[in-house]
Amino acid sequence: MKKINKLIRGILLLIKKPYLINQLLNSDEVLKSAFSKEFPDANETAQISLQSIYPSTNKHQINTYSFLSGSSLVTDFIVLKLACLRLGAKDYLEVGTWRGESVANIADIVDNCYTLNLSDEALKDLKLSKEYIDLHRFFSKSKPNVRHLFGDSKKFDFDSLNKKFDVIFIDGDHHTEAVEADTNRLFPYLKNEKSILVWHDAKSDTEKIRYEVLLGIYRGMPKETHPFIYLVENSLCAIYIPEILESKPLKIYDKPSSNFELTIFMKPIEN
Ligand SMILES: C[S@@+](CC[C@H](N)C(=O)[O-])C[C@H]1O[C@@H](n2cnc3c(N)ncnc32)[C@H](O)[C@@H]1O
Repeated sequence: MKKINKLIRGILLLIKKPYLINQLLNSDEVLKSAFSKEFPDANETAQISLQSIYPSTNKHQINTYSFLSGSSLVTDFIVLKLACLRLGAKDYLEVGTWRGESVANIADIVDNCYTLNLSDEALKDLKLSKEYIDLHRFFSKSKPNVRHLFGDSKKFDFDSLNKKFDVIFIDGDHHTEAVEADTNRLFPYLKNEKSILVWHDAKSDTEKIRYEVLLGIYRGMPKETHPFIYLVENSLCAIYIPEILESKPLKIYDKPSSNFELTIFMKPIEN
């Protein structure tokens, strides 16, 4: 179709369904150019390897993994475990519980785990299905060292926990403004100058940046921390480690630098 015809069809469609403008404004191309304008000096493609988070081992185990809708990648959970191992973490906080897979994996190695999610009532008000709501906390509810918190991360009173954290994982609402708010609100709850923040879905697949999330991360973090925000290879995560680490730019269709050997053990779930 000629460009002019496409343009006319597009305008007519927008008049009929104005909400479609959001798809255009939130497209990665538009957000990427917004990012470049706002953070011209950022090295946002800097990517570190999994190994560089915790070089002492290349053998990792994930005990809880559903391979179901909304699951993170196996490597995303490995990123979290490596961040905790790097610091010998005692206190972990996450935003976004869902089935409780991420926190269940961390509970295997960290003493005190906190996970915040919108309450079941709030999810009901959002007209989400009962089946979806009922699966929240499925893997984490029986873990004695996991404390489930309920509320909206934009308003939750984190002071009420009277605690700071070695590792904080942000995986709730992924809209730019929400990621910015979560980042900005949670950064002060990092325990010390070595503590680590991890964001999920900073990439839409392991080789493509998701600018919707990355823009929120950079807006929410203090400017002086920007050089320490990295993407993590083979995962969908971005990570803040306040150290200069060896990195290389993320490039689509780059030659693989690691090969993973997987053994999968399927465990039935008792009803
Ligand atoms: C991607 S899932 C989390 C997945 C989980 N971290 C894992 O890897 O197993 C996102 C969750 O965040 C919750 N959520 C969305 N917006 C939120 C908000 N503003 N405050 C708290 N939780 C929120 C949703 O209900 C959903 O369960």
